[in-house]
Amino acid sequence: MANLLITGGAGYIGSHACFTLLQQDHTLVVVDDFSNGSVDALRAVATLAGLQSEPRQGLVGGSNRCWRWRAPTSRRTRLSLIEGDIRRAQDLQIAFEVLDEEPIAAVLHFAGLKAVAESVAKPLDYWDVNVSGSRQLFDVMAENHCRTVVFSSSATVYGMAESVPIHESQPVRPINPYGQTKAAVEQMLQDLAASAGPNEPGWRIACLRYFNPVGAHESGAIGEDPDGIPSNLLPLICQVASGQLERLEVYGSDWPTTDGTGVRDYIHVMDLAEGHCAALQTLLAEPPQMLTLNLGSGQGHSVLEMVKAFERINGVPVPYALCQRRAGDSAVSVADPRGAQGRLGWSTRRDLATICRDAWRWQQQNPLGYSN
Ligand code: UD1
Repeated sequence: MANLLITGGAGYIGSHACFTLLQQDHTLVVVDDFSNGSVDALRAVATLAGLQSEPRQGLVGGSNRCWRWRAPTSRRTRLSLIEGDIRRAQDLQIAFEVLDEEPIAAVLHFAGLKAVAESVAKPLDYWDVNVSGSRQLFDVMAENHCRTVVFSSSATVYGMAESVPIHESQPVRPINPYGQTKAAVEQMLQDLAASAGPNEPGWRIACLRYFNPVGAHESGAIGEDPDGIPSNLLPLICQVASGQLERLEVYGSDWPTTDGTGVRDYIHVMDLAEGHCAALQTLLAEPPQMLTLNLGSGQGHSVLEMVKAFERINGVPVPYALCQRRAGDSAVSVADPRGAQGRLGWSTRRDLATICRDAWRWQQQNPLGYSN
């Protein structure tokens, strides 16, 4: 049981991680600016975890909105949500002070911008939020004597990988600004890990390189709520199946794969959340170190396999059309997952059928995301 700061905890992956961490009896302080997350996501997380809203709500630090939840039988706050921006030291400091009894033991850092195409159009926004924001966070962490961090990196740092499955030892060669910013934060963390001196306590760091996070909590109460028309495959399939979109455009049918469509390593978001818990546990139990690990299943599925599986499992048609390749895509991206298995004792447990079923349940229960 530890007190944890979760940046970006009101977003897609962050909210699922919050639920899993609450199940493991941790106490959470979430900082989120709601640019791609919502209070409703955490309300749903709190309800799922059996927590209730505290009467004590309102502002902290003078001007930051704050929400709190606790177990019905306890007076102790288990989940706090502070509206704040990781680029503002003051917002982060408020988060470190909101649990006045005990210090924060570790940070899980999910906050960041994540759309590849947008990063090409607005690179400075990505450097500002992802890189400057992370720098600010690590600075405030050090000031508060907190040197344990789990960072949301991405398989996108590999760019066009040399071979598949992709091992962590492959070169980091991102091909878009989003990937560049993830690689830059990994580098910053590597420098921090190397900075420990005889009188300087060491950092405990895990950079987790996600493959393709998909699906939703099995209750259908939390899931992915993309802003506008989604750009990732599974949310698009869901919107086509529900009739919100007419058909799926399959980007390329001439890739060097079994059926000509792109192959990816889809990982259930609850498996991903559990991977974070395993990384945290390992960091807290072992001497200071830096871990850089893929989080993926090691299984590749093509776009058409995904469409067929979704149709079969859920009994709904997903009309599609074969189209041109999308700029910047690669044929195959599949993790070598053995690093995480060996170091964390973690591997994925949920299969493609579970992914399709859970994604569809979330879509059906929340056709307009959290805003319905
Ligand atoms: C994308 C990002 C990647 C990011 C990841 C996280 C790009 C180029 N890459 O990866 O950096 O880390 O999301 O979620 O944007 N597809 C279609 N039709 C569609 C959408 C997708 O056929 O309308 C295909 C793609 O060509 C690909 C597969 O579906 O083969 C998965 O696509 P997507 O969900 O966008 O993920 P990635 O491209 O792997």
